[in-house]
Amino acid sequence: MIGTALITGASSGIGKEFAKIHAQKGGNLVLVARRENNLLELQEQLIKEFKIQVEILSIDLSAEGAAKKVYAFTQEKNIFISYLFNNAGFGGHGKFIDRDLAIDNQMIHLNVIALVELTHLYLQDMRKHKEGWILNTASTAGFLPGPLQATYFATKAFVISFTKALRQELKGSGIHISALCPGPVKTEFEKVAGMDGSDMFAKGASANSTALKGYNGLMNRKLIIFDQVSYNFLIKCLLPFVPNSLLSKIVEKIQTI
Ligand SMILES: NC(=O)c1ccc[n+]([C@@H]2O[C@H](COP(=O)([O-])OP(=O)(O)OC[C@H]3O[C@@H](n4cnc5c(N)ncnc54)[C@H](OP(=O)(O)O)[C@@H]3O)[C@@H](O)[C@H]2O)c1
Repeated sequence: MIGTALITGASSGIGKEFAKIHAQKGGNLVLVARRENNLLELQEQLIKEFKIQVEILSIDLSAEGAAKKVYAFTQEKNIFISYLFNNAGFGGHGKFIDRDLAIDNQMIHLNVIALVELTHLYLQDMRKHKEGWILNTASTAGFLPGPLQATYFATKAFVISFTKALRQELKGSGIHISALCPGPVKTEFEKVAGMDGSDMFAKGASANSTALKGYNGLMNRKLIIFDQVSYNFLIKCLLPFVPNSLLSKIVEKIQTI
């Protein structure tokens, strides 16, 4: 039997699909997000369908001390987390100078600080057990400068760099870490980011196919996992030859709604 997975951002989109995939494999779950009703519904569905144990925790991960509360929750229930999916995140559109700084701060707290803190907390237990699997949901945005989504792109660049460094530090420990770098995916992300109706998302991947690529990529111990072949090619083969100023112009154009 496979171990328990903790999934942040499990109330919708890619995180919800990670939960279904892990449940299909017979693994128990701890589902974390703010919307309790969504979590309750998913919990009921997965218990009924797969006869697994599913705990839910409704919490705002962008709040100070949230990661410690999540860790305390699993400690109290004596659950060893062998799979950590740091997936919760959101973006926000507009010129940085005009954006509400409080929202960008919240984004940094969720996309970066909660991810770092949860990783640090659960790594301690994984080290004791000499096993663990961590999948950080980054983005193809993490490879690019992001005019009109400056803070979001920068948070994802952090996640990629952080994951690469930990991969090296964790060599030989039995703990595997990967970064999933999706291109556009049809989820609630688009609406939350204020980008409704953008062409980019209309052609996006499904949450299920992206989650499946991420899950399988982690199991195959890939460091950077792309969900679409075209993005893999663009980032690995073309990006190194595009001057920064041109790249910023292209991204700005794509981000313009
Ligand atoms: N969709 C894309 O095009 C795309 C592309 C590349 C990368 N990504 C990344 O993929 C990840 C998942 O996003 P998605 O596309 O599946 O979008 P989504 O459907 O909007 O899912 C985001 C998840 O994060 C949770 N969340 C948001 N704010 C939170 C907070 N303060 N505390 C706790 N949980 C919070 C949401 O739950 P609640 O609202 O219930 O809290 C939801 O479950 C994100 O990290 C995103 O940056 C998405």
